[in-house]
Amino acid sequence: IGGVKIARDDVVRESDPTNNVPDNIFSKIGLQLHRKDNHPIGILKNAIYDYFDTNYPSKFVKFDDLCPIVSVQQICSLQNFDEVLVPADHVSRSYNDTYYVNADTVLRCHTSAHQAELLREGHSHFLVTGDVYRRDSIDSTHYPVFHQMEGVRVFSPDEWKDSGTDATSYAAMDLKICLEGLARHLFGAVEMRWVDTYFPFTDPSFELEIYFQENWMEVLGCGVTEQDILTRNGRKDSVAWAFGLGLERLAMVLFDIPDIRLFWSTDQRFTSQFSEGKLGVKFKPFSKFPPCYKDISFWISDSFTENNLCEVVRGVAGDLVEEVKLMDKFTNKKGMTSQCYRIAYRSMERSLTDEEINQLQWNVREAVQSKLHVTLR
Ligand code: PHE
Repeated sequence: IGGVKIARDDVVRESDPTNNVPDNIFSKIGLQLHRKDNHPIGILKNAIYDYFDTNYPSKFVKFDDLCPIVSVQQICSLQNFDEVLVPADHVSRSYNDTYYVNADTVLRCHTSAHQAELLREGHSHFLVTGDVYRRDSIDSTHYPVFHQMEGVRVFSPDEWKDSGTDATSYAAMDLKICLEGLARHLFGAVEMRWVDTYFPFTDPSFELEIYFQENWMEVLGCGVTEQDILTRNGRKDSVAWAFGLGLERLAMVLFDIPDIRLFWSTDQRFTSQFSEGKLGVKFKPFSKFPPCYKDISFWISDSFTENNLCEVVRGVAGDLVEEVKLMDKFTNKKGMTSQCYRIAYRSMERSLTDEEINQLQWNVREAVQSKLHVTLR
Protein backbone atom coordinates (compact mmCIF):
# COMPACT_ATOMS: atom_id res chain seq x y z
CA ILE A 1 0.00 0.00 0.00
CA GLY A 2 1.39 3.37 -0.95
CA GLY A 3 3.91 1.50 -3.07
CA VAL A 4 4.51 -1.24 -0.52
CA LYS A 5 3.51 -4.65 -1.80
CA ILE A 6 1.66 -6.97 0.51
CA ALA A 7 2.31 -10.68 0.24
CA ARG A 8 -0.27 -13.29 0.96
CA ASP A 9 1.84 -14.70 3.79
CA ASP A 10 1.79 -11.34 5.55
CA VAL A 11 -1.93 -11.50 6.15
CA VAL A 12 -3.12 -15.08 5.84
CA ARG A 13 -2.33 -17.82 8.27
CA GLU A 14 -1.29 -20.90 6.37
CA SER A 15 -4.24 -23.00 5.21
CA ASP A 16 -6.87 -20.91 6.98
CA PRO A 17 -10.09 -22.51 5.72
CA THR A 18 -11.89 -19.19 5.95
CA ASN A 19 -9.61 -17.62 3.35
CA ASN A 20 -10.66 -17.65 -0.29
CA VAL A 21 -8.26 -15.12 -1.76
CA PRO A 22 -6.01 -16.67 -4.42
CA ASP A 23 -2.45 -15.49 -5.05
CA ASN A 24 -3.32 -13.81 -8.34
CA ILE A 25 -5.71 -11.54 -6.43
CA PHE A 26 -3.28 -10.84 -3.61
CA SER A 27 -0.71 -9.84 -6.17
CA LYS A 28 -2.97 -6.98 -7.30
CA ILE A 29 -3.10 -5.36 -3.86
CA GLY A 30 -0.95 -2.26 -3.74
CA LEU A 31 -0.70 -1.74 -7.50
CA GLN A 32 -3.00 1.29 -7.18
CA LEU A 33 -3.77 2.03 -10.82
CA HIS A 34 -5.90 4.93 -9.59
CA ARG A 35 -2.79 6.71 -8.31
CA LYS A 36 -0.95 6.63 -11.64
CA ASP A 37 -1.47 9.98 -13.38
CA ASN A 38 -0.62 8.53 -16.81
CA HIS A 39 -2.99 5.59 -16.53
CA PRO A 40 -6.59 5.83 -17.81
CA ILE A 41 -7.93 5.09 -14.31
CA GLY A 42 -5.76 7.81 -12.74
CA ILE A 43 -6.58 10.27 -15.53
CA LEU A 44 -10.29 9.71 -14.97
CA LYS A 45 -9.93 10.07 -11.20
CA ASN A 46 -8.16 13.40 -11.71
CA ALA A 47 -10.85 14.58 -14.15
CA ILE A 48 -13.51 13.90 -11.51
CA TYR A 49 -11.38 15.69 -8.91
CA ASP A 50 -11.26 18.69 -11.28
CA TYR A 51 -15.04 18.79 -11.44
CA PHE A 52 -15.36 18.84 -7.65
CA ASP A 53 -12.52 21.34 -7.21
CA THR A 54 -14.10 23.72 -9.72
CA ASN A 55 -17.65 23.49 -8.44
CA TYR A 56 -16.97 23.15 -4.72
CA PRO A 57 -13.64 24.90 -4.18
CA SER A 58 -11.68 23.31 -1.32
CA LYS A 59 -14.71 21.46 -0.01
CA PHE A 60 -14.17 17.78 -0.81
CA VAL A 61 -11.40 16.00 1.04
CA LYS A 62 -9.86 13.27 -1.12
CA PHE A 63 -8.77 9.83 0.03
CA ASP A 64 -7.13 7.43 -2.38
CA ASP A 65 -4.83 5.42 -0.15
CA LEU A 66 -7.14 3.71 2.35
CA CYS A 67 -6.09 0.11 2.72
CA PRO A 68 -8.33 -2.61 1.27
CA ILE A 69 -7.44 -5.18 3.97
CA VAL A 70 -7.80 -5.32 7.72
CA SER A 71 -4.42 -6.33 9.06
CA VAL A 72 -2.73 -3.22 7.72
CA GLN A 73 -5.49 -0.79 8.52
CA GLN A 74 -9.06 -1.77 9.22
CA ILE A 75 -11.29 -2.89 6.40
CA CYS A 76 -13.26 -5.69 7.95
CA SER A 77 -16.65 -7.06 7.17
CA LEU A 78 -17.99 -4.70 9.81
CA GLN A 79 -17.09 -1.75 7.65
CA ASN A 80 -17.83 -3.36 4.35
CA PHE A 81 -21.27 -4.61 5.37
CA ASP A 82 -22.57 -3.85 8.87
CA GLU A 83 -21.68 -0.20 8.96
CA VAL A 84 -23.52 0.47 5.74
CA LEU A 85 -26.52 -1.61 6.85
CA VAL A 86 -26.13 -4.51 4.41
CA PRO A 87 -28.63 -7.13 5.67
CA ALA A 88 -27.26 -10.29 7.30
CA ASP A 89 -28.62 -12.49 4.50
CA HIS A 90 -27.53 -10.29 1.57
CA VAL A 91 -25.77 -12.27 -1.21
CA SER A 92 -22.85 -9.89 -1.28
CA ARG A 93 -21.76 -11.29 2.11
CA SER A 94 -21.33 -14.81 0.74
CA TYR A 95 -18.03 -16.53 0.13
CA ASN A 96 -19.21 -16.90 -3.43
CA ASP A 97 -19.30 -13.14 -4.02
CA THR A 98 -16.67 -11.68 -1.68
CA TYR A 99 -13.02 -12.37 -0.93
CA TYR A 100 -12.55 -13.21 2.73
CA VAL A 101 -9.07 -12.91 4.16
CA ASN A 102 -10.39 -14.72 7.21
CA ALA A 103 -13.77 -15.20 8.83
CA ASP A 104 -14.26 -11.53 9.69
CA THR A 105 -11.97 -9.71 7.33
CA VAL A 106 -12.66 -9.08 3.67
CA LEU A 107 -11.13 -7.32 0.72
CA ARG A 108 -13.57 -4.41 0.38
CA CYS A 109 -16.16 -4.99 -2.33
CA HIS A 110 -17.05 -1.32 -2.54
CA THR A 111 -15.65 2.00 -1.40
CA SER A 112 -18.81 2.48 0.68
CA ALA A 113 -16.87 0.49 3.28
CA HIS A 114 -15.23 3.78 4.27
CA GLN A 115 -18.34 5.93 4.65
CA ALA A 116 -18.91 5.37 8.36
CA GLU A 117 -15.31 5.75 9.53
CA LEU A 118 -14.89 9.02 7.63
CA LEU A 119 -18.17 10.37 8.98
CA ARG A 120 -16.99 9.46 12.47
CA GLU A 121 -13.77 11.33 11.84
CA GLY A 122 -15.91 14.40 11.19
CA HIS A 123 -15.65 14.75 7.41
CA SER A 124 -18.63 16.32 5.68
CA HIS A 125 -17.49 16.34 2.05
CA PHE A 126 -15.29 13.53 0.81
CA LEU A 127 -14.25 11.43 -2.13
CA VAL A 128 -12.77 7.95 -1.65
CA THR A 129 -11.06 6.22 -4.55
CA GLY A 130 -9.71 2.71 -4.32
CA ASP A 131 -9.36 -0.80 -5.63
CA VAL A 132 -12.32 -3.07 -4.83
CA TYR A 133 -12.58 -6.85 -5.09
CA ARG A 134 -15.45 -9.08 -6.18
CA ARG A 135 -15.73 -12.70 -7.16
CA ASP A 136 -17.58 -12.74 -10.45
CA SER A 137 -17.93 -14.31 -13.87
CA ILE A 138 -15.45 -13.59 -16.68
CA ASP A 139 -16.07 -11.43 -19.71
CA SER A 140 -14.70 -8.27 -21.32
CA THR A 141 -16.24 -5.95 -18.71
CA HIS A 142 -15.73 -7.98 -15.51
CA TYR A 143 -12.50 -8.41 -13.61
CA PRO A 144 -12.20 -9.46 -9.95
CA VAL A 145 -10.32 -6.26 -9.10
CA PHE A 146 -11.59 -2.89 -10.22
CA HIS A 147 -11.73 0.69 -8.99
CA GLN A 148 -14.48 2.79 -7.51
CA MET A 149 -14.92 6.35 -6.39
CA GLU A 150 -17.26 7.16 -3.56
CA GLY A 151 -18.56 10.65 -2.85
CA VAL A 152 -20.35 11.81 0.28
CA ARG A 153 -21.78 15.21 1.15
CA VAL A 154 -23.35 16.02 4.53
CA PHE A 155 -25.67 19.00 5.03
CA SER A 156 -26.33 20.63 8.36
CA PRO A 157 -29.93 21.67 9.21
CA ASP A 158 -29.40 25.35 8.44
CA GLU A 159 -28.59 24.47 4.84
CA TRP A 160 -32.08 23.18 4.00
CA LYS A 161 -34.38 24.70 6.63
CA ASP A 162 -35.22 27.73 4.47
CA SER A 163 -35.45 25.75 1.24
CA GLY A 164 -39.17 25.05 1.52
CA THR A 165 -38.62 21.31 1.12
CA ASP A 166 -37.88 18.50 3.53
CA ALA A 167 -34.32 17.40 4.16
CA THR A 168 -34.51 14.25 2.03
CA SER A 169 -35.89 16.01 -1.04
CA TYR A 170 -33.35 18.76 -0.61
CA ALA A 171 -30.46 16.27 -0.55
CA ALA A 172 -31.87 14.23 -3.45
CA MET A 173 -32.19 17.35 -5.58
CA ASP A 174 -28.68 18.53 -4.78
CA LEU A 175 -27.33 15.05 -5.53
CA LYS A 176 -28.94 14.90 -8.95
CA ILE A 177 -27.73 18.36 -9.93
CA CYS A 178 -24.21 17.51 -8.81
CA LEU A 179 -24.05 14.20 -10.69
CA GLU A 180 -25.68 15.46 -13.87
CA GLY A 181 -23.00 18.14 -13.90
CA LEU A 182 -20.33 15.50 -13.41
CA ALA A 183 -21.69 13.39 -16.29
CA ARG A 184 -21.64 16.45 -18.58
CA HIS A 185 -18.11 17.27 -17.45
CA LEU A 186 -16.98 13.77 -18.47
CA PHE A 187 -19.17 12.99 -21.48
CA GLY A 188 -20.25 16.38 -22.85
CA ALA A 189 -23.87 16.95 -23.82
CA VAL A 190 -25.37 13.51 -23.34
CA GLU A 191 -28.91 12.32 -22.75
CA MET A 192 -29.39 11.09 -19.18
CA ARG A 193 -32.08 9.43 -17.13
CA TRP A 194 -32.59 8.52 -13.47
CA VAL A 195 -33.74 5.03 -12.54
CA ASP A 196 -35.03 4.13 -9.07
CA THR A 197 -33.17 1.27 -7.45
CA TYR A 198 -32.27 -0.24 -4.09
CA PHE A 199 -29.13 0.00 -1.97
CA PRO A 200 -29.07 -0.94 1.72
CA PHE A 201 -27.32 2.32 2.64
CA THR A 202 -29.44 4.89 0.80
CA ASP A 203 -33.13 5.75 0.57
CA PRO A 204 -34.27 6.85 -1.92
CA SER A 205 -31.69 5.22 -4.21
CA PHE A 206 -31.03 5.96 -7.87
CA GLU A 207 -28.91 4.94 -10.80
CA LEU A 208 -27.82 7.44 -13.39
CA GLU A 209 -27.82 6.20 -16.96
CA ILE A 210 -26.50 7.98 -20.02
CA TYR A 211 -27.32 7.30 -23.65
CA PHE A 212 -24.14 6.24 -25.29
CA GLN A 213 -23.54 4.48 -28.59
CA GLU A 214 -27.20 3.59 -28.92
CA ASN A 215 -27.49 2.09 -25.45
CA TRP A 216 -28.53 3.24 -22.02
CA MET A 217 -25.48 2.73 -19.85
CA GLU A 218 -25.49 2.67 -16.05
CA VAL A 219 -22.93 5.18 -14.83
CA LEU A 220 -23.26 5.15 -11.07
CA GLY A 221 -25.36 4.31 -8.03
CA CYS A 222 -26.34 6.89 -5.45
CA GLY A 223 -28.96 8.10 -3.01
CA VAL A 224 -29.81 9.87 0.20
CA THR A 225 -27.86 8.29 3.04
CA GLU A 226 -29.89 6.17 5.48
CA GLN A 227 -30.46 8.21 8.62
CA ASP A 228 -29.21 5.32 10.75
CA ILE A 229 -25.73 5.66 9.28
CA LEU A 230 -25.63 9.35 10.14
CA THR A 231 -27.06 8.84 13.61
CA ARG A 232 -24.63 6.06 14.49
CA ASN A 233 -21.70 8.16 13.37
CA GLY A 234 -22.37 11.38 15.21
CA ARG A 235 -24.51 13.22 12.63
CA LYS A 236 -27.96 12.84 14.14
CA ASP A 237 -29.42 16.09 12.82
CA SER A 238 -27.83 16.04 9.39
CA VAL A 239 -28.87 14.74 6.01
CA ALA A 240 -26.42 13.45 3.42
CA TRP A 241 -26.07 12.02 -0.03
CA ALA A 242 -23.65 9.42 -1.36
CA PHE A 243 -22.67 8.03 -4.72
CA GLY A 244 -20.36 5.29 -5.96
CA LEU A 245 -19.07 4.90 -9.48
CA GLY A 246 -16.99 2.26 -11.21
CA LEU A 247 -13.97 3.84 -12.87
CA GLU A 248 -13.22 1.01 -15.35
CA ARG A 249 -16.69 1.07 -16.83
CA LEU A 250 -16.47 4.80 -17.50
CA ALA A 251 -12.87 4.64 -18.68
CA MET A 252 -13.68 1.86 -21.17
CA VAL A 253 -16.21 4.16 -22.79
CA LEU A 254 -14.22 7.39 -22.57
CA PHE A 255 -10.97 5.91 -23.89
CA ASP A 256 -12.48 3.25 -26.19
CA ILE A 257 -10.81 0.42 -24.28
CA PRO A 258 -12.39 -2.83 -25.49
CA ASP A 259 -11.38 -5.24 -22.72
CA ILE A 260 -11.05 -4.65 -18.98
CA ARG A 261 -7.86 -6.75 -18.76
CA LEU A 262 -6.02 -4.05 -20.69
CA PHE A 263 -6.02 -1.78 -17.63
CA TRP A 264 -3.52 -4.20 -16.05
CA SER A 265 -1.27 -4.37 -19.07
CA THR A 266 2.27 -3.12 -18.66
CA ASP A 267 2.86 -3.39 -22.41
CA GLN A 268 4.33 -0.11 -23.67
CA ARG A 269 2.01 -0.22 -26.64
CA PHE A 270 -0.83 0.23 -24.16
CA THR A 271 0.69 2.43 -21.48
CA SER A 272 2.35 4.88 -23.87
CA GLN A 273 -1.00 5.89 -25.37
CA PHE A 274 -2.16 7.77 -22.26
CA SER A 275 -0.87 10.84 -20.54
CA GLU A 276 -1.68 13.00 -17.55
CA GLY A 277 -4.65 15.31 -17.99
CA LYS A 278 -5.71 13.84 -21.33
CA LEU A 279 -9.18 12.44 -20.79
CA GLY A 280 -10.81 10.63 -23.66
CA VAL A 281 -7.84 10.04 -25.97
CA LYS A 282 -9.05 7.07 -28.03
CA PHE A 283 -7.10 3.87 -27.58
CA LYS A 284 -5.71 2.38 -30.79
CA PRO A 285 -5.57 -1.42 -30.56
CA PHE A 286 -2.09 -2.56 -31.52
CA SER A 287 -3.70 -5.33 -33.53
CA LYS A 288 -6.37 -7.78 -32.72
CA PHE A 289 -5.14 -11.24 -31.98
CA PRO A 290 -7.57 -14.09 -32.67
CA PRO A 291 -9.40 -15.74 -29.77
CA CYS A 292 -9.33 -19.49 -29.38
CA TYR A 293 -12.35 -21.32 -27.98
CA LYS A 294 -12.26 -24.50 -25.92
CA ASP A 295 -15.24 -26.25 -24.38
CA ILE A 296 -15.36 -28.06 -21.08
CA SER A 297 -18.30 -30.18 -19.90
CA PHE A 298 -18.88 -31.76 -16.54
CA TRP A 299 -21.47 -33.12 -14.15
CA ILE A 300 -21.84 -30.58 -11.39
CA SER A 301 -22.16 -31.13 -7.65
CA ASP A 302 -24.52 -29.20 -5.36
CA SER A 303 -21.78 -26.84 -4.32
CA PHE A 304 -20.86 -25.83 -7.88
CA THR A 305 -20.99 -22.11 -8.72
CA GLU A 306 -19.96 -20.22 -11.81
CA ASN A 307 -17.88 -17.79 -9.74
CA ASN A 308 -15.84 -20.70 -8.37
CA LEU A 309 -15.31 -22.04 -11.88
CA CYS A 310 -14.14 -18.64 -13.09
CA GLU A 311 -11.72 -18.36 -10.20
CA VAL A 312 -10.17 -21.70 -11.05
CA VAL A 313 -9.89 -20.82 -14.74
CA ARG A 314 -8.39 -17.44 -13.92
CA GLY A 315 -6.00 -19.16 -11.50
CA VAL A 316 -4.61 -21.28 -14.32
CA ALA A 317 -4.87 -19.00 -17.35
CA GLY A 318 -4.58 -15.59 -15.69
CA ASP A 319 -5.23 -12.72 -18.06
CA LEU A 320 -5.14 -15.04 -21.07
CA VAL A 321 -8.76 -15.93 -20.42
CA GLU A 322 -11.19 -13.51 -22.01
CA GLU A 323 -14.55 -15.09 -21.36
CA VAL A 324 -16.17 -18.08 -19.69
CA LYS A 325 -19.65 -18.65 -21.00
CA LEU A 326 -22.33 -21.23 -20.23
CA MET A 327 -23.29 -22.90 -23.53
CA ASP A 328 -25.49 -25.78 -22.48
CA LYS A 329 -27.08 -27.26 -19.39
CA PHE A 330 -29.29 -30.30 -18.92
CA THR A 331 -30.45 -32.64 -16.18
CA ASN A 332 -30.73 -36.37 -16.88
CA LYS A 333 -33.32 -38.83 -15.56
CA LYS A 334 -31.17 -39.60 -12.54
CA GLY A 335 -31.20 -35.91 -11.62
CA MET A 336 -27.56 -35.29 -12.53
CA THR A 337 -26.89 -31.92 -14.11
CA SER A 338 -24.34 -31.42 -16.85
CA GLN A 339 -23.00 -28.04 -17.88
CA CYS A 340 -20.88 -27.07 -20.83
CA TYR A 341 -18.80 -23.89 -20.71
CA ARG A 342 -16.93 -22.28 -23.56
CA ILE A 343 -13.64 -20.68 -22.59
CA ALA A 344 -12.25 -17.97 -24.86
CA TYR A 345 -8.48 -17.60 -24.66
CA ARG A 346 -6.88 -14.50 -26.09
CA SER A 347 -3.87 -12.45 -25.24
CA MET A 348 -4.16 -8.69 -25.60
CA GLU A 349 -0.48 -8.54 -26.47
CA ARG A 350 0.51 -11.43 -28.72
CA SER A 351 -0.66 -14.51 -30.63
CA LEU A 352 -0.99 -17.66 -28.59
CA THR A 353 0.26 -20.94 -30.03
CA ASP A 354 -1.96 -24.04 -30.32
CA GLU A 355 0.44 -25.84 -28.05
CA GLU A 356 0.18 -23.19 -25.36
CA ILE A 357 -3.61 -23.17 -25.48
CA ASN A 358 -3.87 -26.96 -25.38
CA GLN A 359 -1.62 -26.97 -22.35
CA LEU A 360 -3.72 -24.29 -20.66
CA GLN A 361 -6.93 -26.16 -21.38
CA TRP A 362 -5.38 -29.36 -20.05
CA ASN A 363 -4.36 -27.59 -16.84
CA VAL A 364 -7.79 -26.02 -16.54
CA ARG A 365 -9.42 -29.46 -16.82
CA GLU A 366 -7.13 -30.85 -14.13
CA ALA A 367 -7.77 -27.91 -11.81
CA VAL A 368 -11.54 -27.91 -12.36
CA GLN A 369 -11.67 -31.62 -11.60
CA SER A 370 -9.54 -31.46 -8.47
CA LYS A 371 -10.88 -28.22 -6.97
CA LEU A 372 -14.57 -28.15 -7.83
CA HIS A 373 -15.73 -31.70 -7.14
CA VAL A 374 -17.23 -32.08 -10.60
CA THR A 375 -16.95 -35.03 -12.96
CA LEU A 376 -15.49 -34.18 -16.33
CA ARG A 377 -17.24 -35.64 -19.34
N1 PHE B 1 -21.62 0.86 -3.15
C1 PHE B 1 -22.52 0.85 -4.26
C2 PHE B 1 -22.02 -0.23 -5.25
O1 PHE B 1 -20.90 -0.64 -5.16
C3 PHE B 1 -22.63 2.17 -4.97
C4 PHE B 1 -23.25 3.24 -4.10
C5 PHE B 1 -22.47 4.07 -3.33
C6 PHE B 1 -24.62 3.40 -4.09
C7 PHE B 1 -23.05 5.06 -2.54
C8 PHE B 1 -25.22 4.37 -3.31
C9 PHE B 1 -24.43 5.19 -2.54
O2 PHE B 1 -22.74 -0.65 -6.14
